[in-house]
Amino acid sequence: MRIGHITLANRLFAAPMAGVTDRPFRQLCKKLGAGYAVSEMVTSRRDLWNSLKTSRRADHAGEVDPIAVQIAGTDAAMMAEAAAYNIDRGAQIIDINMGCPAKKVCNKWAGSALMQDEPLALEIVEAVVATCAPRNVPVTLKMRTGWCAAERNALRIARAAESAGIAMVTVHGRTREQGYKGAAEYETIAAVKAALAIPVVANGDIDSPAKALEVQRATGADAIMIGRAAQGRPWIFREIAHFLATGETLPAPQVAEAKAWLIEHLHDHYALYGEFTGVRSARKHIGWAVRALPGGEAFRAEMNRIESCELQLRAVGDWFDALAQDHLRLPAAPPAANDDRVEQAA
Ligand SMILES: Cc1cc2nc3c(=O)[nH]c(=O)nc-3n(C[C@H](O)[C@H](O)[C@H](O)COP(=O)(O)O)c2cc1C
Repeated sequence: MRIGHITLANRLFAAPMAGVTDRPFRQLCKKLGAGYAVSEMVTSRRDLWNSLKTSRRADHAGEVDPIAVQIAGTDAAMMAEAAAYNIDRGAQIIDINMGCPAKKVCNKWAGSALMQDEPLALEIVEAVVATCAPRNVPVTLKMRTGWCAAERNALRIARAAESAGIAMVTVHGRTREQGYKGAAEYETIAAVKAALAIPVVANGDIDSPAKALEVQRATGADAIMIGRAAQGRPWIFREIAHFLATGETLPAPQVAEAKAWLIEHLHDHYALYGEFTGVRSARKHIGWAVRALPGGEAFRAEMNRIESCELQLRAVGDWFDALAQDHLRLPAAPPAANDDRVEQAA
């Protein structure tokens, strides 16, 4: 699997998720089987580049190659400038965001809102490719199936983008109008795959090895991308890789393994964000990791009151140690009732 001249380790991608797929989380996903992970989106607004948030998002120290940065914006020249800025900071692939439905992005006429204005979308693609091509940096595009049910224009945009030099297209099988509601559909992704020569990535609602195989078969896509199902469960990548390679299901991770991964993740997380922000933003990752385990919801509430790295680490370690007394492997997790995986979107 290649993106332009860059060869990837496998065909399993971690989806960009603002507020989630920061460098520590991407590293964890790559360690646990993702062949590729895209950064959270970085704004094309130059005045925000020096903000703490954007500079953290543009920090790739120690990240496993290839480093892929997603940019979001509405102005072609600014997007081209943002691409150059991120290449100067280590980006080896630039991804254009035409898929994010977050209000903050759409109000500014960016993300999936761009799908409603095809000439502008193409103008952005052309400007970013013109900046990246001389630097030998492939440009990719992430989009939805369209703006709304009556306007599923992913195929038209994908074709035009391919002609303009885009190296790979990812399609989330929902329209902008749907947000995260309803089920993802894969016919549009299959149509895009059938029409394009460049790699096409299928995304949306892949939450198990069996679903990964189903989507791969339904779309013929070159790779599959997983977002929410990796929250708190980053080992899903190795589970899927194993299943696609052998047809067999891996046993659940040992509780001790899950603990070690989470503790390592927390150390990396604190190192990037510092204590005050790190302890707070780590809560969502811990919450996702424990929420469906026995006693997880109670622990989560308790852990939300902890305000130091040391105490948070100790609480997490003790909690998993206690779980390990009764379970060698993570017990099967029933789906949690309150889904907070989307509301966290930044
Ligand atoms: C919390 C959150 C943040 C997201 N942020 C982005 C983003 O920055 N850029 C983007 O293209 N998509 C973003 N998405 C969309 C995901 O990349 C993905 O397309 C979507 O979640 C569907 O995949 P899934 O069903 O595997 O989660 C975000 C999704 C979530 C849940």
